[in-house]
Amino acid sequence: MKNIVILISGGGSNMAAIVKAAESERWAARLDARVAAVISNKADAGGLAIARGQGIPTSVVSHKDFASREEFDAALAREVDVHAPTLVVLAGFMRILTPWFVTRYAGRLINIHPSLLPAFPGLNTHRRAIEAGCRVAGVTVHEVTVELDHGPILAQAAVPVLPDDTPDALAARVLAQEHRVYPRAVADWLRRADTN
Ligand code: GAR
Repeated sequence: MKNIVILISGGGSNMAAIVKAAESERWAARLDARVAAVISNKADAGGLAIARGQGIPTSVVSHKDFASREEFDAALAREVDVHAPTLVVLAGFMRILTPWFVTRYAGRLINIHPSLLPAFPGLNTHRRAIEAGCRVAGVTVHEVTVELDHGPILAQAAVPVLPDDTPDALAARVLAQEHRVYPRAVADWLRRADTN
């Protein structure tokens, strides 16, 4: 059985989409994988209740309890490793990870970013896409490497930017695609892991 550990900081809608896919009979049987744990750096992350409601073990490692990024990442890795993950999935995890953490999970750490990378790494992607006059925006699933939002691209989906779009309206359009693209990218990754 392959264990997936999902890291979140907020509402957890992408995590919920992956959990739903993982529970579908076809997915679980073909990929022999399950979401083993959901870990948040914020105790009030809405996604924690969703995960608990699905019977998935959850825990919180608060960045506020640590004096440095290095100490936080060490504690986070200890918690992640409890679940012996085949794959670590960042789903709206809003902390920058240290090179040490990224290297520890190299090749089995993936992220979803709400832009068509390499355009608009970082924050406020939807506002920046609108201000730049983009006609399309979208979502990217990528391998995590030491440079923020720069790893090899695993999947993308595009949406139109509409006249008079607001960042919130565009974010909602992109998020609908995130929920479609991320479970598929996770399944594809697991399938490739089987053949390697
Ligand atoms: C998603 O839009 C995700 O792409 C974004 O945060 C949101 C989390 O939503 N991630 C980043 O901005 C990472 N830099 P969710 O908690 O409902 O999945």
